[in-house]
Amino acid sequence: MAAARKKMTEMLEIKNLQVAVESKPILTGVDMTIRRGEVHALMGPNGSGKSTLAGVIMGHPNYEVTEGTIELNGQNILEWDATERARAGIFMAFQRPMAIPGVKMADFLRHAATNVRNPNRKEGEQLIPMREFRKELRDKMTQLRMDEEFARRYVNDGFSGGEMKRAEILQLAMLRPKFAILDETDSGLDVDAVKLASQSIAEIGGADMGILIITHHDRLLEHNTPDFTHVMLGGRIVETGGVELARELYTEGYDKVRARHPEDAAIEREMAAADKKTVSVVA
Ligand SMILES: Nc1ncnc2c1ncn2[C@@H]1O[C@H](COP(=O)(O)OP(=O)(O)OP(=O)(O)O)[C@@H](O)[C@H]1O
Ligand SMILES: [Mg+2]
Repeated sequence: MAAARKKMTEMLEIKNLQVAVESKPILTGVDMTIRRGEVHALMGPNGSGKSTLAGVIMGHPNYEVTEGTIELNGQNILEWDATERARAGIFMAFQRPMAIPGVKMADFLRHAATNVRNPNRKEGEQLIPMREFRKELRDKMTQLRMDEEFARRYVNDGFSGGEMKRAEILQLAMLRPKFAILDETDSGLDVDAVKLASQSIAEIGGADMGILIITHHDRLLEHNTPDFTHVMLGGRIVETGGVELARELYTEGYDKVRARHPEDAAIEREMAAADKKTVSVVA
């Protein structure tokens, strides 16, 4: 019952966020407010800045915030490192998760879950008791239809594209963050796996998670109907709408959006041209 709710809805508030990488501007003024319980979809062409936004929210050190703020319940989090942000309940599933050879999934998850659940724990203090953790992990893996063997493998080491994405969802399930950013969690998943992922995210998320789903498709949104759909172009959110906007973009592509926002489309072309130069140097 809404009236019985005592606490104000928690929120993640991004205002006029401008970000550069190696002094190249990538985000040029992003505004977005995510409340717990809301589902936001973030779409936009390749290179428009979606992963950059995700990385900046999580506190990735490569990005330089040149303007603007990110606040969690009114508190500026820009000075917090990624660990502090995770402990405060922010989670990100990576578009390209990193492998950690030598660290088993189960150990990694036990440490991560302990840190997030006991934010004041000092290094070396008690982890979640093994039996309790094992049971919880087993339950979650059954729910996600994952083989138990998975937990004994090294984090993302030799995982297939689909397995990596499922490992991210397992993390989400174990950490149960307040705010989750899912960067193309559907990419590389086969049709059945996407369905399962979409259902799982809805089950895990429930009514008390704020979710930002970055995707090029509408499949992950099937069970996670966005309250808001944002379109990013050239480092800015140029349009925000409802679920119908996500469907339109998925079926019709971005040309109409570009036509409605010619200045941002021009910035997009400049960014792409700059990238091509960089790629040719690298290649
Ligand atoms: N570490 C970096 N070094 C150099 N350029 C970067 C870096 N990170 C991002 N960029 C550039 O910033 C722009 C936005 O990249 P980003 O990964 O945020 O796009 P995206 O919207 O997630 O695209 P995609 O849909 O392909 O995943 C691109 O031009 C990219 O090359
Ligand atoms: Mg990306």
